[in-house]
Amino acid sequence: MKKKPIIIALCGKGGVGKTSLSALITRMLCQDGSRRVLAIDADPAVGLSYPLGIHVRKTVDHIRNDLIKTLGNGEKIDKSDLLRQLDYEMFSALEEKENLAFLAIGRPEGDGCYCQVNHLLRDLIKEIAGQFDVVVIDGEAGLEQINRRVMDMVTHLLIVTDASLKGRNVAESIYELSENLGAFEKAGVIFNKIRIDREEETILTKNSLPLVHLMGENQAIRDFDLEGRSFFELPEDKDFIRLEQAVSRFINAGVI
Ligand SMILES: Nc1ncnc2c1ncn2[C@@H]1O[C@H](COP(=O)(O)OP(=O)(O)OP(=O)(O)O)[C@@H](O)[C@H]1O
Ligand SMILES: [Mg+2]
Repeated sequence: MKKKPIIIALCGKGGVGKTSLSALITRMLCQDGSRRVLAIDADPAVGLSYPLGIHVRKTVDHIRNDLIKTLGNGEKIDKSDLLRQLDYEMFSALEEKENLAFLAIGRPEGDGCYCQVNHLLRDLIKEIAGQFDVVVIDGEAGLEQINRRVMDMVTHLLIVTDASLKGRNVAESIYELSENLGAFEKAGVIFNKIRIDREEETILTKNSLPLVHLMGENQAIRDFDLEGRSFFELPEDKDFIRLEQAVSRFINAGVI
């Protein structure tokens, strides 16, 4: 039987570096070509495609809207045809590049009455995720998404924060919520964009969450982001190697 995938989600306050770290982690997982990796951009702003060097043509939201339009026109589709069509659409929304596949969610579900469509799409996302060895989800800022059902497949929650009190408070609230939900195998925090030496000690003495890594400010990340360049072209440096080692320890290197 196929092993269940490791599903890592990154979440935290806006602007703390979720997308950058998601891209670096995805790159690391793709590196030796031995595993099939799926990256999911769950942020409505669709930002992860740039550092992964992928062009997005269709999002899950586009698929949902097209379907809702068809149903709104009064067209009758039987359930198995609907499933077949959605399945086809979802696979056509997957962008693939060697051992990496990418799926953008686009706008999250509204509270509209298209529950059946939303449920079908969620099931399909899970089905697709199940076909990979490891999945990286770049989450939306804030707490809301933790409660959403796309997150109920997550096994490893990586909470990202910068040095700010606000970021750290959001990180703590997310951790608390994750503990209450008890849904994840593991949760931990990455402090990002830290001024090593100046901020490191304060952060470490104040932190009560399981620490995965402390990542310093890195000029190359900023430069690549500025130009919208793929992080796959980032030259290897000690910051990335340390991050990679910390994340593979977190997700249990022996497992993947
Ligand atoms: N370790 C780092 N060193 C330097 N700059 C960084 C680092 N990590 C992220 N950045 C920069 O911080 C900014 C925000 O990063 P990013 O877009 O990854 O955050 P985010 O949490 O995904 O934001 P949003 O909530 O808007 O989606 C970007 O300009 C990025 O280049
Ligand atoms: Mg982002």
